[in-house]
Amino acid sequence: MPRSNGTSPSISLALERHLAVNLFGTYGVTQAFLPLLTRSRGAIVNVLSVTAFAALPLIPAYSISKAAAFSLSQSLRALLAGRGMRVHAVLTGPVDTDMSRGLDIPKASPESVARAIFDGVEKGEEDIFPDPMSQSMAESWRSGAAKALERQYAALVEAKPVKTAA
Ligand SMILES: NC(=O)c1ccc[n+]([C@@H]2O[C@H](COP(=O)([O-])OP(=O)(O)OC[C@H]3O[C@@H](n4cnc5c(N)ncnc54)[C@H](OP(=O)(O)O)[C@@H]3O)[C@@H](O)[C@H]2O)c1
Repeated sequence: MPRSNGTSPSISLALERHLAVNLFGTYGVTQAFLPLLTRSRGAIVNVLSVTAFAALPLIPAYSISKAAAFSLSQSLRALLAGRGMRVHAVLTGPVDTDMSRGLDIPKASPESVARAIFDGVEKGEEDIFPDPMSQSMAESWRSGAAKALERQYAALVEAKPVKTAA
């Protein structure tokens, strides 16, 4: 993606595309599977990115879409907990796949990331940090002010259950 000042048509188009896939796509798939997931008391695992925490300005549209999908995951987590469903957010750092082929930085293997995601789900971790780069942020995120606020907001839903998700 070319660098831009954040207002050019190229970023606007890129933003629409990224939101279509990473936000509305995630929302649509979740809605489609909700009846099945409710019956099986299943889990939703949303593969996000550390760019949900801090935008990488080289890829603003991608970063915005991952932050939005993280926010969606937090809301769904609180709204669906009463139905016995768990929502996991995977805050992934660089992984050695086609997507990051052009980046000359240390990357985790896809196999190790996949394993860490399954481990995190098994351990019941709400937010999963599946690689060495993201793992370095795990403790400060879990004990930080933003996570505390998420829990505080979630308690409002527990106190007053709502019928519809998102
Ligand atoms: N690689 C990283 O460094 C990294 C870091 C953080 C987070 N992630 C996240 O990890 C997830 C997997 O990415 P990856 O690294 O495996 O990337 P990848 O190797 O480029 O694979 C992307 C996958 O998404 C599919 N896809 C792309 N656009 C789609 C669309 N419009 N509708 C349906 N499927 C679509 C592709 O399908 P086709 O093969 O059919 O094109 C492909 O299977 C993504 O959510 C990504 O944001 C990756």
